[in-house]
Formats: sequence, structure tokens, C-alpha cells
Amino acid sequence: MANHFELHCPSRAENVGLCRVAAATFAANAGFSVAEIEEIKVAVSEAASNVVVHAYPKEEGALTLRCEELEDGIVIEVRDQGVGIEDIAQARQASFSTDPERMGLGFVFMESFSDEFAVESAPGRGTRVKMRKRREAPAEAS
Ligand SMILES: Nc1ncnc2c1ncn2[C@@H]1O[C@H](COP(=O)(O)OP(=O)(O)OP(=O)(O)O)[C@@H](O)[C@H]1O
Ligand SMILES: [Mg+2]
Repeated sequence: MANHFELHCPSRAENVGLCRVAAATFAANAGFSVAEIEEIKVAVSEAASNVVVHAYPKEEGALTLRCEELEDGIVIEVRDQGVGIEDIAQARQASFSTDPERMGLGFVFMESFSDEFAVESAPGRGTRVKMRKRREAPAEAS
């Protein structure tokens, strides 16, 4: 069986770090380089922060992180059952944010650090962000 885990927690700010560390540890065990793990940490932090900030604006809700090892890398999923996104294409654009205080760059980072990136969402039902990342080939010993 491929290695995998699922972490369920409330959408609290302190759990963003928990998700980041869990995904980073999983990626390290799966053979990712230090540089790749840094990218994974940023991407997972951005996805989990979005759940904390945007998915449940009024009260805490469920935040789920899932990681699964693939032959050539990993797939990471962050999902919630919150308010959802009306216009996904618009939300993914650089500098778009529904909060004027924010940069609107979270999705841009997630996409740039993934080999495949997908956002599924339905208003009132929640959001699922899926990131697939390939492991870089280990450097040849010289
Ligand atoms: N899980 C989510 N649930 C509901 N809305 C979301 C979710 N994730 C993102 N969004 C919406 O998509 C927009 C863009 O997200 P993105 O992470 O790119 O930027 P941001 O969170 O607004 O700013 P930044 O990430 O730079 O702090 C958000 O402003 C929000 O409206
Ligand atoms: Mg964000």
C-alpha cells in the first residue's frame, strides 16, 4: 500500500503550522529534497490559511489535509466544508482577493510549486485544493 495519511483538525490559525509540519515530514520521508520541501511547506501553509481565513468566516469548521505518496512524487489535498468559491478562475488570478487587506497570491504560490494543480469548489459546500508534485531526480554522484 502506498504511504498516506489524513489529518482532521478545526480551522484554527495554530493548525496551519501543524499541517505544514505534517506535510513536510511526509515529503521528507518520501525522498523530496530540502528545496522541494520548502515549496511544499509554502503551498500547504497557503492552502490551510485559506481554510482558516476564508472558508469559515464566522466560526471554526473542519480542515482536512491528505497526503499520498506516488511512484514519482506526492499528491496533497487540502479541503473544507466552508462557504466555497463563486468564481474559481477569478479567485486563482494573481492579486485577486475578496479581502482588501490581503495580497491575493496564495493560489499563485500553490500553483507555481505544483506540477499539477486543481481547485474544486461549490458555494455553500466547500473547497478542495489538489496539488501533485514530482520528486526531482537525485543528483548523479560524480
Ligand atoms: N478555502 C477557501 N474557501 C473559500 N474561499 C476561498 C478559499 N480559498 C481561497 N478562497 C478565495 O479565493 C481568493 C484568493 O485566494 P488566495 O489565497 O489566492 O488569496 P488571499 O487568501 O485573498 O490572499 P493571500 O493568500 O495572499 O493572503 C480569496 O480571497 C478567497 O475569496
Ligand atoms: Mg490565501
